[in-house]
Amino acid sequence: MGHVFPIFILSILLSTAGAEISGKVGVNYGQLGNNLRSPSRSVELIKSLKAKRVKIYDANPKILNALKNTDIQVSIMLPNELIVNVSSSQNFSDSWVKTNVVPFYKETKIRYLLVGNEILSSSDNATRINLVPAMRRMKWSLKTHELHKIKVGTPSAMDVLESSFPPSNGTFRSDISGPIMKPMLRFLNRTKSFFFLDVYPYFPWAQDPKNIDLDYALFAAKNRTYSDPGTGLTYTNLFDQMVDAVIFAMKRLGYPNIRIWIAETGWPNGCDIDQIGGNIYNAATYNRNAIKKFTSDPAVGTPARPGWVLPSFIFSLYNENQKPGPGTERHFGLLYPNGSNVYQIDLSGKTPESEYEPLPAPTNNEPYKGKIWCVVKKNANMSAVSGALSYACSQGNKTCDAIQPGKACYKAKSLFRLASYAFSSYWAQFKKSGGSCDFNGLATPTPKDPSK
Ligand SMILES: *[C@@H]1O[C@H](CO)[C@@H](O)[C@H](O)[C@H]1NC(C)=O
Ligand SMILES: *[C@@H]1O[C@H](CO)[C@@H](O)[C@H](O)[C@H]1NC(C)=O
Ligand SMILES: *[C@@H]1O[C@H](CO)[C@@H](O)[C@H](O)[C@H]1NC(C)=O
Ligand SMILES: *[C@@H]1O[C@H](CO)[C@@H](O)[C@H](O)[C@H]1NC(C)=O
Ligand SMILES: *[C@@H]1O[C@H](CO)[C@@H](O)[C@H](O)[C@H]1NC(C)=O
Ligand SMILES: *[C@@H]1O[C@H](CO)[C@@H](O)[C@H](O)[C@H]1NC(C)=O
Ligand SMILES: *[C@@H]1O[C@H](CO)[C@@H](O)[C@H](O)[C@H]1NC(C)=O
Ligand SMILES: *[C@@H]1O[C@H](CO)[C@@H](O)[C@H](O)[C@H]1NC(C)=O
Ligand SMILES: *[C@@H]1O[C@H](CO)[C@@H](O)[C@H](O)[C@H]1NC(C)=O
Repeated sequence: MGHVFPIFILSILLSTAGAEISGKVGVNYGQLGNNLRSPSRSVELIKSLKAKRVKIYDANPKILNALKNTDIQVSIMLPNELIVNVSSSQNFSDSWVKTNVVPFYKETKIRYLLVGNEILSSSDNATRINLVPAMRRMKWSLKTHELHKIKVGTPSAMDVLESSFPPSNGTFRSDISGPIMKPMLRFLNRTKSFFFLDVYPYFPWAQDPKNIDLDYALFAAKNRTYSDPGTGLTYTNLFDQMVDAVIFAMKRLGYPNIRIWIAETGWPNGCDIDQIGGNIYNAATYNRNAIKKFTSDPAVGTPARPGWVLPSFIFSLYNENQKPGPGTERHFGLLYPNGSNVYQIDLSGKTPESEYEPLPAPTNNEPYKGKIWCVVKKNANMSAVSGALSYACSQGNKTCDAIQPGKACYKAKSLFRLASYAFSSYWAQFKKSGGSCDFNGLATPTPKDPSK
């Protein structure tokens, strides 16, 4: 009996753990677009993609109402700017839950409450220290309202690590490891929640396409593997390497068993001329392969955790035209803003490859070789451009010398041309150190010489 009993307990634990969480794939429903379909239409589209879960970046009541009486599990978010309010007042936390969760639960299947978004990647380091206290308060508020099914977490980007290679060397950044990660892991472990992780193999590949095989990043490498000298584990794709780096970092802090939830992953279906690999072919390949992995039964897990379920949200539902930054940012959608598919995709993973139509061949997997200028966007707000022109000219060395009155490139009265010159001149100097051709969405890279 003494031998049988623990095994019996163990099998019950395993089976409830399996029943609690499934590998069904969800989608991130970002709303940074001024041309997106309505919440109710969006919920229909989410269903048509066969997504079983949805994550939103707030607690938008219109969306939560549209999700009522559906089978879709929902993850909501406390906005970054309220983290300090919550951490400093249990009453504030309670009333936030009372206003934003209680009226929708249970008709809306709210299951996850994420506290802020990638707050540890933000330069706002004052909010950081409030993160874990806010998570604790939110959990307490949920308990007060008897919302026991809702887990509390927070999404982290890969930059919470200072080392991710080889995966067994995974280590959290020293500025957050002791003060924030340790108490956070303790909280996640105690509440049996998840480490919510945003994982984009696109970015390391795009930064170093010479040394990282594109197919390895797309889950499509037939015979390429990487063997971690620290563990002997064999990797067949970049995604697994990145996830395992976080698993080893958690282990290093004494938490080897906290489950990972892929809070975001995806691949851009388009990009600026100075970027690479953002195209429909790669995006469809990446997402279809990721979904195949996430939905495989039995679960495949990762080399460090074979057989573990990886619940996930693909990023994103729509191409979002108001996201700042380089072009890739506005091209992660499974859908165009009007609701039509960018490419065929089935989040249930049940559609066989052979049923998909052929994809357009990629044309930008290699860096563009010609000259690229940074110019004012069509329809840009010209009074804002005027401000950006002054800013650009105040940066770098001799950035705007050639467009002073009387100089070679001076074109009196054409703000469009002056600013395009200034943006290009600025960008030529700052591109190497990570400067982007964006200017708050006023500028775009182009292969066409603006002075012609
Ligand atoms: C949150 O706290 C800030 C700073 O104290 C305050 O200005 C803001 O009004 C608070 N937000 C809400 C919704 O109460
Ligand atoms: C708690 O918060 C609610 C809503 O913000 C407010 O109306 C109420 O006065 C607060 N109560 C206390 C004791 O601070
Ligand atoms: C936040 O950053 C500033 C400047 O980088 C630094 O001086 C300060 O010590 C940091 N604060 C915390 C809490 O890490
Ligand atoms: C392991 O990580 C540390 C930083 O945490 C870094 O200094 C070291 O170079 C890494 N080792 C390898 C083999 O990359
Ligand atoms: C994490 O949680 C497990 C299960 O509840 C427990 O056995 C373990 O001691 C916890 N780990 C730490 C470091 O607290
Ligand atoms: C992988 O397979 C391809 C085609 O079979 C072959 O050309 C290539 O050399 C192989 N690469 C490696 C690293 O084995
Ligand atoms: C939706 O937008 C895409 C991209 O702009 C376009 O190609 C497609 O024709 C549009 N579909 C409909 C039904 O308007
Ligand atoms: C245009 O930019 C100016 C200056 O930044 C701003 O005050 C104004 O509100 C903007 N207009 C529109 C329509 O966005
Ligand atoms: C401007 O010139 C200085 C001195 O030559 C140099 O150190 C600096 O890096 C230059 N700045 C840029 C943006 O190229």
